[in-house]
Amino acid sequence: MRVTFAHILGVFLLPLTLAHNKRAGNTTATNTTSLVEGLLANGAVDLGDWDVAYQKAVALVAQMTNEQKVTVITGGSVAALNWTALEQKDATQNPAGYDYVTSFPLASALASTWDRDLMTTQFRAVAAEFYGKGIQVTSGPTSQPMGRTPYSGRLDETLGADSYLNGIAFGLGSQAFTDVGIIPGGKHFLLNEQETNRMGFGSPSGIAPYSSDADDKTIHETYLWPFYDGIKSNMGAVMCAMNKVNGTASCENDDLLMGLLKTELGFPGMVVPDVSGQSTAYGSANGGLDYGSSTYWSNATVQEGINNGSFSQALLDDKAVRNVIGYFYVGLNNGSQPAYVGQEAYVDVRANHSAIVRTNGAAAIVLLKNTNNALPLSKPRSIALFGANAGPVMAGPNYEFTVSGTPSLYQGHLAAGAGGGQGSFSYLVTPQEALNARARTEGTMIRWILNNTYTDDVVSFFHKRQETSANSTGGGGFSGPAGLSGGTSLTHTIPAYAATAQVCLAFINAFSGEGADRTELRSTEADSLVTTVADNCNNTIVVVNTVGPRILDTWIEHENVTAVLYSSLLGQESGNSIMDVLYGDVNPSARLPYTIAKNESDYNVGICETAVCNFTEGNYIDYKYFDKYDVTPRFEFGYGLSYTSFEYSNAAFSITNSSALASMYPTGPVGVGGKTDLWDEVVSVTADVANIGTVDGHEVAQLYVAFPDAADQPVRQLRGFERSLIASGASTSVSFSLRRRDLSYWDVAAQDWAIATGTYTFSIGASSRDLRLNVTMTI
Ligand SMILES: *[C@@H]1O[C@H](CO)[C@@H](O)[C@H](O)[C@H]1NC(C)=O
Ligand SMILES: *[C@@H]1O[C@H](CO)[C@@H](O)[C@H](O)[C@H]1NC(C)=O
Ligand SMILES: *[C@@H]1O[C@H](CO)[C@@H](O)[C@H](O)[C@H]1NC(C)=O
Ligand SMILES: *[C@@H]1O[C@H](CO)[C@@H](O)[C@H](O)[C@H]1NC(C)=O
Ligand SMILES: *[C@@H]1O[C@H](CO)[C@@H](O)[C@H](O)[C@H]1NC(C)=O
Ligand SMILES: *[C@@H]1O[C@H](CO)[C@@H](O)[C@H](O)[C@H]1NC(C)=O
Ligand SMILES: *[C@@H]1O[C@H](CO)[C@@H](O)[C@H](O)[C@H]1NC(C)=O
Ligand SMILES: *[C@@H]1O[C@H](CO)[C@@H](O)[C@H](O)[C@H]1NC(C)=O
Ligand SMILES: *[C@@H]1O[C@H](CO)[C@@H](O)[C@H](O)[C@H]1NC(C)=O
Ligand SMILES: *[C@@H]1O[C@H](CO)[C@@H](O)[C@H](O)[C@H]1NC(C)=O
Ligand SMILES: *[C@@H]1O[C@H](CO)[C@@H](O)[C@H](O)[C@H]1NC(C)=O
Ligand SMILES: *[C@@H]1O[C@H](CO)[C@@H](O)[C@H](O)[C@H]1NC(C)=O
Repeated sequence: MRVTFAHILGVFLLPLTLAHNKRAGNTTATNTTSLVEGLLANGAVDLGDWDVAYQKAVALVAQMTNEQKVTVITGGSVAALNWTALEQKDATQNPAGYDYVTSFPLASALASTWDRDLMTTQFRAVAAEFYGKGIQVTSGPTSQPMGRTPYSGRLDETLGADSYLNGIAFGLGSQAFTDVGIIPGGKHFLLNEQETNRMGFGSPSGIAPYSSDADDKTIHETYLWPFYDGIKSNMGAVMCAMNKVNGTASCENDDLLMGLLKTELGFPGMVVPDVSGQSTAYGSANGGLDYGSSTYWSNATVQEGINNGSFSQALLDDKAVRNVIGYFYVGLNNGSQPAYVGQEAYVDVRANHSAIVRTNGAAAIVLLKNTNNALPLSKPRSIALFGANAGPVMAGPNYEFTVSGTPSLYQGHLAAGAGGGQGSFSYLVTPQEALNARARTEGTMIRWILNNTYTDDVVSFFHKRQETSANSTGGGGFSGPAGLSGGTSLTHTIPAYAATAQVCLAFINAFSGEGADRTELRSTEADSLVTTVADNCNNTIVVVNTVGPRILDTWIEHENVTAVLYSSLLGQESGNSIMDVLYGDVNPSARLPYTIAKNESDYNVGICETAVCNFTEGNYIDYKYFDKYDVTPRFEFGYGLSYTSFEYSNAAFSITNSSALASMYPTGPVGVGGKTDLWDEVVSVTADVANIGTVDGHEVAQLYVAFPDAADQPVRQLRGFERSLIASGASTSVSFSLRRRDLSYWDVAAQDWAIATGTYTFSIGASSRDLRLNVTMTI
């Protein structure tokens, strides 16, 4: 049972002293009575609909002794007050490590759908599985690593390299979890862009954990941006990162946690540490960590700190409140949640979620190339299937990778990641299995070689028998060595299979996971497979499942590579989702949530090997870098084809709140998610999109904004997207709502979001480099 509050109404606010704007985190600060910036009790944040939960939290904490508060903030239960410790688990593609759950497409797949409804549907279904297992807090959704470098090992788990798209998805995830009754624990805060040297306070080398150093403008405009969305969408927990920021541990960083997060963004919830994020008692306590280890926060240490001024009563009270407020906000006190169960318990929470997995998987597949009408497939006579990524791994599918380095290729169909991105499969439909089913109903003959490097050239028994018989001088003639009982006269080699199939499907993957960064963005083994097939088969279709940007240039222009499907890791229905697109049951509509370069050297940021990682590139990551420095990508951010085509017309804008635009800075109070009027719509942009092809399809119309020079912004930035289903021959109107923040830049001097005067160009199109319409607005 969890605490219910009917009987503790009437308990009043904690006896907290008045606020003044002084930061904690200064470990030499010695004031037992001062209230610091970032405390909920100082009233600086307009809590809005969090206020009810706040009152309940304060009422509960008011009954606690300091020892009970210490128990709560170190993850313990207080039986006397009916407070049961919250269970927090990874991640957002399933309750990681649990049996009888659904393995959903990874977050990066979801980001590539560019569809708000699909995101919400999936996040709600995931949340329902956590709820059903009795878990209260998720370590997710996961905004970052964002993709400062394409080598980052965890990009499969995150929401794309653009702050706007990432922020929208992050916010929808937070709201979905909250609505279902789970506390979302958004991560990783902040500037956690690589795995290398992430762990190891006190390591002899002094390198780990690395420090990410970025300037204030970059922090706001690129990395903090999605957290605004998350917190606005009621994220009740934030996970601080393993790395340092500007030389101070993220989990002990006053500027980051008490300043940016709890003051500027008005975050009302609890800050929880990533593994090894906490390394001191008072540094973490004053720096803004709310939940920590009893190793650092013993009763004695906390109380002595309060007594001698190394810590404060007000901060302890604030932490206790933050540890319980989310529980009340999401309604976990309503007594409805099933009891917490262990990983192996038979509690089936899967409902009909496999349908969501299949739909979202198909919606996450980007069609990168399609020539000679290669796709969709239409009852091919024969198909040959190649590569380990087409079939099941030898032992599977429910695997739990350790948090460590992983090889760059997975020898089986890759449908989930590792570490925080791991799948917990109750079954997995591989492409081979799904294609078998199609072949059976469509009269197709299929063959496969589920190995990237297969070199055997055994000739089949039947073939041998024919030859032997012909030379035989009598008798049955079965004198040759018995070959494989394949039943056909085909040599078992990749070139031979490729040369005789009408359609060749080459499946490759790129793998990485939590704990190690990628060492390569393409692999010789996988690229040789594709090239070998394409050299022999004039209709080679490549299917790529990858954790992050994957260089395709070894073969993308090969004349025999007629089509390419490219996606992240698609979960337990992966094979079905891929067949749905190959056969045209689903018209592809996904878009790249990052840039695919022609060469590795075209990316501007690699893995940092030093103690200090200086984000000198500022806001210029991914397409913002390619655009500014005029580097031609292979496939740009936002790119993706369809089986139909679309025409854009009639761009227009209207200023929907001119009085707001007249003010350079926001004027509202700080609420949950920052100044409240940052979220007000100020401009609306519209356009018409027509489907001029022969099949129905979804188009993802995108809005990019070019700012006046005074704003010092990238060449253009995504500020709207709308995925719409448009029937063949029909047309629809799309509209993009620009909120005040979408037209603002971070004014470092004023320490506020500002709107520059000058001319804004709104470009509407099908990708970041396929801009079909332009319209300008002057402020
Ligand atoms: C830390 O606090 C002490 C005492 O209030 C003050 O003298 C000192 O300047 C502060 N240091 C910093 C870096 O803010
Ligand atoms: C402690 O804070 C109180 C209230 O803000 C203030 O009056 C007092 O001077 C502070 N003491 C020290 C030692 O800074
Ligand atoms: C704790 O819960 C039990 C059972 O619901 C109830 O009898 C008791 O009054 C509660 N105690 C407090 C302090 O809320
Ligand atoms: C980090 O340091 C930079 C450069 O001094 C500064 O602009 C920025 O505000 C700092 N941010 C944080 C969170 O410490
Ligand atoms: C603090 O004291 C309480 C009550 O004695 C105890 O239950 C709890 O385990 C202690 N917590 C720590 C972190 O020592
Ligand atoms: C306060 O007490 C703690 C715990 O004993 C100790 O580590 C710290 O140095 C003390 N601080 C001061 C200012 O005396
Ligand atoms: C693939 O085939 C090659 C050559 O026949 C063999 O050496 C290798 O072990 C096979 N790989 C796997 C993963 O089975
Ligand atoms: C069959 O005879 C032909 C012609 O003599 C020869 O080239 C071939 O190697 C023989 N095949 C077998 C399987 O002995
Ligand atoms: C394309 O495939 C055909 C076989 O269909 C082959 O003859 C040709 O050499 C291949 N082209 C290239 C460039 O490899
Ligand atoms: C591919 O080769 C087959 C036979 O080898 C031929 O019928 C077909 O027209 C070729 N397709 C293309 C696109 O060249
Ligand atoms: C980081 O890079 C910025 C911009 O190039 C530079 O001003 C700053 O001094 C660098 N910081 C460090 C610690 O190297
Ligand atoms: C719109 O502007 C962009 C960027 O200046 C340009 O590349 C594109 O061609 C323009 N589109 C039209 C239709 O003018």
